[in-house]
Amino acid sequence: MITRRGFGAVLAAGLLATSLAACANSDTGADAGDGPIVLGFSQVGAESGWRTANTNSIKEAAAAAGIELKFDDAQQKQENQIKAIRNFIQQKVDVIAFSPVVESGWDTVLKEARDAKIPVILTDRSVDSADRSLYKTFIGSDFVKEGRLSGEWLIEQTRSATGPVTIVELQGTTGSAPANDRKKGFAEAIAANPNLKIVASQSGDFTRAGGKQVMEQFLKANPDIDVLFAHNDDMGLGALEAITAAGKVPGRDITIITIDAVKDGMQALADGKFNFIAECSPLLGDQLMELVRKVHAGEEVPARVETQETTFTQEQARAALPNRRY
Ligand code: AHR
Repeated sequence: MITRRGFGAVLAAGLLATSLAACANSDTGADAGDGPIVLGFSQVGAESGWRTANTNSIKEAAAAAGIELKFDDAQQKQENQIKAIRNFIQQKVDVIAFSPVVESGWDTVLKEARDAKIPVILTDRSVDSADRSLYKTFIGSDFVKEGRLSGEWLIEQTRSATGPVTIVELQGTTGSAPANDRKKGFAEAIAANPNLKIVASQSGDFTRAGGKQVMEQFLKANPDIDVLFAHNDDMGLGALEAITAAGKVPGRDITIITIDAVKDGMQALADGKFNFIAECSPLLGDQLMELVRKVHAGEEVPARVETQETTFTQEQARAALPNRRY
């Protein structure tokens, strides 16, 4: 497995060779002639601060790399993504990349891309297709690890607890890889202490509005919530409003753990309203463009490119905030 830093070095070394490869590519069927590489990219939507930062990163990196980007916003709908991918195939783009809104249901359209000899790169989220030849590589985070790190932090904090610790969970978009994997990693980690119990778990669709609305329901049904685990910062930020409106102090009456570490989330952590964040980096643009160049040139790429990430406590957030890029 190649980490973000290690992969950067490998790519830098391969860049010159790649840009010299201006011949027809028999594997992809693409003609790497004089014009720019055309990349069709289907984005999930604009549901969170993370997503906005990810979109900006991809657009900026494409411009800097001289890659012509055809960008489509699927507004959190799988059918829109499938339509966009089919349009890209019709337009005969050189490479297709997309961040799948959910994990299942991609085989047919991915086979259509393979039949058209257009290489596909998965970014940020993966698919559950058994046929690994349907896409060239997957670049993104280890979501199970993010959930596990969140759970392990909570295990440390609750070591001395003698009674039950009541947890509510705000899940991401139903059926999405980050929702499935973060839930799994967190549940596995907290199983180490039988006092820790998830009493309610529901999707807030990765949005602030969803986080607020579901947290309101959680608070009504469970007056004694000790911990909120939110699958992203935005849902945690929405939940803050519900918690405050219920007369509780976030970060003190209710311990709040989130994932992403976007600026607004880091500010809430630095202000003591959140207690812990596991980072998920949206800055995938540069690495993606290098992968695009490589697959277009028919070069080998690693099957999996994992982004390198960290975690933040309140103190660490205060130190990191001034230099936060997103
Ligand atoms: O797939 C990454 C997730 O999608 C981010 O954690 C979340 O904020 C986004 O909407």
